[in-house]
Amino acid sequence: MKLPQTVNILLLGSGGREHAFAWKIAQSPRLEKLFIAPGNAGTRSCGVNADLDPSNFPAIKQFVLNNYINLVVVGPEQPLVEGVKDYFLNDSEIRHIPVIGPSQEAARLEGSKEYAKAFMSRHGVPTAAYFTVTRDNVEEGCAFLASDQVQAPYVLKADGLAAGKGVLIINDLAEAQAELRAMLEGKFGAASKKVVIEEFLSGIEVSVFVATDGKSYKILPEAKDYKRIGEGDTGPNTGGMGAVSPVPFATPEFMEKVRTRIVEPTIRGIREEELDYTGFIFIGLMNCGGEPKVIEYNVRMGDPETEVVLPRITSDIIDLFEGIAHGTLEEKTITVTPRTAATVVCVSGGYPGEYAKELPIQGLSTATAGESGMESEGETIVFHAGTALKGGETVTAGGRVLAVTSLGDSIPAATERSYGTIEGITYEGKYCRRDIGRDLL
Ligand code: AMP
Ligand code: GLY
Repeated sequence: MKLPQTVNILLLGSGGREHAFAWKIAQSPRLEKLFIAPGNAGTRSCGVNADLDPSNFPAIKQFVLNNYINLVVVGPEQPLVEGVKDYFLNDSEIRHIPVIGPSQEAARLEGSKEYAKAFMSRHGVPTAAYFTVTRDNVEEGCAFLASDQVQAPYVLKADGLAAGKGVLIINDLAEAQAELRAMLEGKFGAASKKVVIEEFLSGIEVSVFVATDGKSYKILPEAKDYKRIGEGDTGPNTGGMGAVSPVPFATPEFMEKVRTRIVEPTIRGIREEELDYTGFIFIGLMNCGGEPKVIEYNVRMGDPETEVVLPRITSDIIDLFEGIAHGTLEEKTITVTPRTAATVVCVSGGYPGEYAKELPIQGLSTATAGESGMESEGETIVFHAGTALKGGETVTAGGRVLAVTSLGDSIPAATERSYGTIEGITYEGKYCRRDIGRDLL
């Protein structure tokens, strides 16, 4: 099976990841028309923003039919965990329209930490040892923390989706036991009715991305994400303050271990369990002294990692979607530039706590170059993350406002370009980390 030669695409989501997808899709000669729902002020330069809620499946169906959509690409996890793929498959009017993303069952690889851990254990994927606790075995959970099966620091994870906030790493035993009880009593709402206690892994993290049609796979460029708000990896966790690709410590030897020990058993597991998975797998890994171990699966691309992964891919993305959607991924070739991509995220003052919105952003028109590609030396593109249009003016609309990506021949060459562009963009309270990529030099 194939997609038509040219296609109408509906892309769901509104962040920097979706702007990067939209930017890449818009470069394809196979694109007829791109809609982004709901999109942001930046995605308008790549397609048409549609005022649709990605969780309102009946409205998506109507839009897809009215606009002759041939393919739906899902950016964030929420609609996947809510079953958007199954909604399409269960409706005869839209069943034939492929959705890039896993089924609701397969999305539990991200939606439930316990499901993911049990899957890894069934398929021999290396990961931290774990123990699952609910209200029914709280005392056992507290005893497990005190036993010699785990040592400080203690890792407590809410089982369900908690907007990236559901992981606690605690040094003190009594505090960990108290937090375990608090989580089970609803500290993170329904997401923490079940808690996974994990062995602490020490090492350095890397994000690995895999495209799959459920049978075969392609490994995309890897990336390193900067999660903490402060320089030198200090302060609270955020959605991600920057990213770099390639990652120097992800050597060919390390990536071969990742492929044989992690990616292959994962794909085999998906196949054996007959999970409907046509999309992207984001594997969060810890490099523990050269040995990769899985921290988590996500059933989508990363943000801001997508903003460095896609600019390095030089082959056609609709061709890749076709392989994913129609079980022909094995026949496809992905080409990647060896150059370095770095993205620096500009956030709103106060983020990840309270922050103001609707602050006007100046300097974007001169900064947004490279709409048709990044072929030329050191080109920069300003991906919008949390922006909106208000009375013809671009304003802030989220904590993460922009992700400024550059290509360069080295990490400093790429980041310096992005920092240079960021100088020319202003809004009240603008903040970015100045040390993106520095730890990798
Ligand atoms: P997660 O939501 O599973 O990605 O966890 C958030 C962050 O907590 C990860 O990116 C790691 O930095 C950290 N983390 C999670 N699990 C572990 C672990 N078992 N050992 C050490 N750090 C962890
Ligand atoms: N950058 C981490 C994530 O997308 O979850």
